[in-house]
Amino acid sequence: MTASIPRLEAGDVVDLILSDHRLFEDLLRELRNEQNDRDALRGRIAELLVAHGEAEESKVYNQLERKDAIDEEDVEHGVKEHDEGYETLLPLLEATELYDEDFSEKLHEFSETLLHHLDEEERDILNPAREEVTAQERARLGASWAAERNRMLDEGCGSVEQVRALVGEAQSSAQSSAQSSAQSSTQPTAE
Ligand SMILES: [Fe+2]
Ligand SMILES: [Fe+2]
Repeated sequence: MTASIPRLEAGDVVDLILSDHRLFEDLLRELRNEQNDRDALRGRIAELLVAHGEAEESKVYNQLERKDAIDEEDVEHGVKEHDEGYETLLPLLEATELYDEDFSEKLHEFSETLLHHLDEEERDILNPAREEVTAQERARLGASWAAERNRMLDEGCGSVEQVRALVGEAQSSAQSSAQSSAQSSTQPTAE
């Protein structure tokens, strides 16, 4: 399955996100098969990962937090798992040999990371969205998430350079948050 990633029409945000999650699973399965065109498939999964995840962060997570469906910790955890997805995807995109044991190990690592995130997101973010948010609001979020996801795909996202930049951003934001928590722990406490 190396056909281009389908663009999504508007709908309930939970249903739309779930349909992409099933597409991730299909793409991972296709990538495991050595008889397939792994170069094309890694490109497909990279563009879907970036468009899907970045659109969740900009169009869904914060909006669900504002509706009190999820809390700040859920948002931060989701973003952290997206970053881990990019970090484990990058070695796959940089690989020059796509049919050896080393690629297989990199694929295993990426697959574990991504499947873990899909599972957690479906339980900890999509379940509350179903329960705490009205159908009308879910439709509004679905339209805005799908539009952003489609826009990124149309622009051509998921290049190795873009994924490298996303990994760099994730590492520098992790560093600065570690520094600020180290600073706050050394601040004298008010008497
Ligand atoms: Fe997702
Ligand atoms: Fe996600």
